[in-house]
Amino acid sequence: MASAGPLSGGGAARRQLHSAEAVDVASASNFRAFELLHLHLDLRAEFGPPGPGAGSRGLSGTAVLDLRCLESEGAAELRLDSHPCLEVTAAALRREGPGSGEPPAEPVSFYTRPFSHYGQALCVSFPQPCRAAERLQVLLTYRVGEGPGVCWLTPEQTAGKKKPFVYTQGQAVLNRAFFPCFDTPAVKYKYSALIEVPDGFTAVMSASTWEKRGPNKFFFQMCQPIPSYLIALAIGDLVSAEVGPRYDLLFMPPSFPFGGMENPCLTFVTPCLLAGDRSLADVIIHEISHSWFGNLVTNANWGEFWLNEGFTMYAQRRISTILFGVDPDDTYNETPYEKGFCFVSYLAHLVGDQDQFDNFLKAYVHEFKFQSILADDFLDFYLEYFPELKKKRVDTIPGFEFDRWLSTPGWPPYLPDLSPGDSLMKPAEELAQLWAAEELDVKAIEAVAISPWKTYQLVYFLDKILQKSPLPPGNVKKLGETYPNISNARNAELRLRWGQIVLKNDHQEDFWKVKEFLQDQGKQKYTLPLYHAMMGGSEVAQTLAKETFASTASQLHSNVVNYVQQIVAPKRS
Ligand code: BES
Ligand code: ZN
Repeated sequence: MASAGPLSGGGAARRQLHSAEAVDVASASNFRAFELLHLHLDLRAEFGPPGPGAGSRGLSGTAVLDLRCLESEGAAELRLDSHPCLEVTAAALRREGPGSGEPPAEPVSFYTRPFSHYGQALCVSFPQPCRAAERLQVLLTYRVGEGPGVCWLTPEQTAGKKKPFVYTQGQAVLNRAFFPCFDTPAVKYKYSALIEVPDGFTAVMSASTWEKRGPNKFFFQMCQPIPSYLIALAIGDLVSAEVGPRYDLLFMPPSFPFGGMENPCLTFVTPCLLAGDRSLADVIIHEISHSWFGNLVTNANWGEFWLNEGFTMYAQRRISTILFGVDPDDTYNETPYEKGFCFVSYLAHLVGDQDQFDNFLKAYVHEFKFQSILADDFLDFYLEYFPELKKKRVDTIPGFEFDRWLSTPGWPPYLPDLSPGDSLMKPAEELAQLWAAEELDVKAIEAVAISPWKTYQLVYFLDKILQKSPLPPGNVKKLGETYPNISNARNAELRLRWGQIVLKNDHQEDFWKVKEFLQDQGKQKYTLPLYHAMMGGSEVAQTLAKETFASTASQLHSNVVNYVQQIVAPKRS
C-alpha cells in the first residue's frame, strides 16, 4: 500500500504543465498568442425553411471576444477557427484608448483561409499590431444557417411534432460551425449570451445562470471557464419537470447522435433513455461524472481524449458499483473509454487501497481544475502524490510501462477484476451455448428462466448469440418466438442487438424491425453498426440499408449522414 503524498496547498502557484506548449493539430487558430478573457454571443434565432434564401432558418448576430495579447513581440492578426457555413459580414476592433471611457470600435478587415474538411481559419487583421499584454475586443457580425454545428429540426422531426427545434453539438470540433472561436480544448474562458427567440419558444444553454430579458430574450452566463466545445444551445417548445436538485437534463429529439453529452449544467441525453427500465441510468451517471473528468480537468487536445473518457468510465463504474452493487460492465468497447478505464484501474491497483485512490482522484481534480492537460501532467502528479510508487519506479515495470499503456496499440496489459460479475454472466453464456446447437435441447432451454434477468444480462446474452452467429437454420426464428421480450423490446440496447442478430442470420422476417429502429432514433453508436451489418449482409439486407437511409437521411445529424454515406456508398478518397 502506498502512502498519500502532500496535497498542494491552497493558493500555491500552479504547476507548469506539459500542456502549456502542446500543439492542437485540429485547430487553425493562433490560440497561444492571446488570452481569451470572455466571449459574448448576441444571437437571434429565426425558424424558417432550410436555407439559403430570404427568411430561411438561421442564427444571426455578433460574437464579441475580449482578449489580451500574450506575444512578447505583439501580434498583427487574430486567427480563429471558423467554418464555411459561418457568413461573417463585419469585423470591428476596440482597443484600450488613452482616456477613460469605452473607445469606439473601428471596422477592420478580415479574410478566410482553408484549413480542413471540418473548418477554415478566420483571420482578423489589426491595422497596427497589438502590443504585449494589451487588451482588445474583437466584434464579429455573422450568420449561420445550415451547417454541421447548428442542427435544425422541422416539427415532424421532434417528439412533439408541433414546433421546430434547434440545438448545437460542439464536441469535438463542431462549435467552429456555431461561432468563431479558439476551437481547442486547450483554451478555457467564461461566456455570456443573449438569445432572442420567436414567440412561444424557450432557449437553454450550458450556463451557470439564466434570466429572462423581456418576453423573447434569454440571458445566460457561465461563470466558470470552460472550453469551446462545451458551449451548447437548444431552442424549442421546451417543457420542464422537477426531478432532483441542481442538475438539468435536456431530453433531445430522437435524431440526437449520442447517448449523452456532458454540456455543463445541462446534459443533453437521447430519448432512448426513456426506455421504461432503469438500465440506462449509467449514461446519466457517466455524464455527471464528466463534471469533474472532462469539464473541470480537460484533455488539452483530442489526441488525449482518454483523459476525459477513461477517468469518466472509472468514476461511472465506481458510482454504479456503490449504487447497484454489481459492476454492470456496459457496452462500450472503444479504446479511450475501455483501455482508459483499464489504465485508471491499474493505477488504483498499484495504490492498493480504494480510499487512498479515491482521495487521490479528488486531489487530481483539485490540482488541475479549470485547466486542460496532457497524460504526462496527470502521470507526474500521480507519482508525486505517491512517492513510494515513484521510488519503486512503477512507471517502468517491464510489460506495464506507462508509455506502453499510452502508446502501444492492442489489448491492455492489465485487466481490472470483474469477477463479481461472473455469477451473473455465466448463465447468459451457457444459455447462448444452448442456442448455438444444431439440435436445440428444448428442455434445457426452457429450464432457464430469463424473466428476472437485468437488461445488461440480456445484453450480454445477445452479444454472445451475435458472436456465435450465424446460428444453425431456424434457431433465430425460434429464439425470437421464445423471448418476445427480446425480439419486441423497446429498450434501445436490446433493439440494437436484436437487429444485429437478425442481420447476421439474414432473418428477413424481422428486417422491418431494423428499419423501424433506425427511423425511431439517430444515435451514432446504434446507427453505424447496423448499416455495417446490412451492407455486409445479403442483397436483401443491402437494399434494406439503402431504403432505410433514403427515408431517414433528412432526420440525421450531418456527421452521422456522412458516416452512413461512407458505409452505404463509399467514395474512394
Ligand atoms: N462526450 C461523450 C460523447 C461524445 C464523444 C460526443 C465524442 C462527441 C464526440 C459522452 O460523454 C459519451 O461518452 N457518451 C456515451 C455514453 C456513455 C455512457 C459511454 C454515448 O453517447 O454513447
Ligand atoms: Zn463520455
